[in-house]
Amino acid sequence: MASILSPAPGNVGVVRSIDDKTYVGLRPLSTRTHVAVTRGSKARPLAVVRASSEKEVSVKSSGLSIEECEAAAVAGKFSDPPPLYRPQGPKGTPIVQPLPLTRRPRRNRKSPALRAAFQETTLSPSNFVHPLFIHEGEEDVPIGAMPGCFRLGWRHGLLEEVYKARDVGVNSFVLFPKIPDPLKSQTGDEAYNDNGLVPRAIRLLKDKYPDIVIYTDVALDPYSSDGHDGIVREDGVIMNDETVHQLCRQAVSQARAGADVVSPSDMMDGRILAIRMALDAEGFQDVSIMSYTAKYASAFYGPFREALDSNPRFGDKKTYQMNPANYREALVETEADEAEGADILLVKPGLPYLDIIRLLRDNSSLPIAVYQVSGEYSMIKAGGVLKMIDEEKVMMESLLCLRRAGADIILTYFARQAASVLCGMKGN
Ligand code: PBG
Repeated sequence: MASILSPAPGNVGVVRSIDDKTYVGLRPLSTRTHVAVTRGSKARPLAVVRASSEKEVSVKSSGLSIEECEAAAVAGKFSDPPPLYRPQGPKGTPIVQPLPLTRRPRRNRKSPALRAAFQETTLSPSNFVHPLFIHEGEEDVPIGAMPGCFRLGWRHGLLEEVYKARDVGVNSFVLFPKIPDPLKSQTGDEAYNDNGLVPRAIRLLKDKYPDIVIYTDVALDPYSSDGHDGIVREDGVIMNDETVHQLCRQAVSQARAGADVVSPSDMMDGRILAIRMALDAEGFQDVSIMSYTAKYASAFYGPFREALDSNPRFGDKKTYQMNPANYREALVETEADEAEGADILLVKPGLPYLDIIRLLRDNSSLPIAVYQVSGEYSMIKAGGVLKMIDEEKVMMESLLCLRRAGADIILTYFARQAASVLCGMKGN
């Protein structure tokens, strides 16, 4: 039994000679046809895996029990290798010579077990961070622009949602508060009120579920009467260093309440180092900083701003959030955040910015987070409601793709629904 590999025209190696009595799967390549060798033959049909269909067909068995097979094997009796069976194409299928290919990548995709074995990226509930909107009220108020999302009452709805998420393996949460208008001001001082909504919610959650991970948003917009992430000067400029001062107080207040990871989403310059020093000065060396490193001035945040009623009162956020046209600039932000002591780097939005996720992944050893933002969520929900797409499949694919691009963790409004699917339950 010898097989000789020799270069065929075009430098492609093909199997020239083979002992075809021994190897069912390695018959010499027929030069005539590769269809229909069993029609009318008495050969037992060997159903093969169909490479072009999701419906897998198993090899027909001899019908013997395991014991009978064992006995036969012990007695040295082995059944003949099944004859080669090539199912036919439909009438009219062209009869062609097999292409002389050394690589047929489809071979590694031909069965569920092979596909699972070679899957490069995985998705798990532990990769998700669940963003939760909270408010002072008792009721859970549905958010029109984000079907399935609510402004949760911080005393009841919040605890219930966390309970349900934990049930499917989601243990990380990020809180976004809806602040009543009378508490908003131009300098956003409610942001560091130790008895404000966020610190109260953190304390309650930590009391009830001590082992969860609580991320907080560090930015002034929910607290700013101008709806901006920083303090607005009389000429409309967003003041950088003065805002950073406020953000430090906000981060320390959140840490004092028990936050595990403070997450500056404001895009002011130098805020990571300032926050690190402020936390350390108060003894919060163990509180992590997840920096919104590459946060773009994106229209995909629209539904979120409706959820929190936090639209900027004038202008836009283009003097602090990044220009969606820019790629290299994300490296400038990455280098700054790394040097300033960020623990996790975040890219936002998600799916339209996969190249930025990969850029950060390849240029930093730190964990990378991505935020699949409100607009991305709402588009998938809307497409599902209109029956234009399969919501569940698109949801799972979008999350997997964010992981493939290089994200370790994903902030996503689908966290609980997707985790339910991963746990083998119907989403929601
Ligand atoms: C503001 C903030 C925003 C989001 C998270 N934090 C909105 C903005 O920058 O205007 C958007 C999240 C989403 O759209 O889901 N600090």
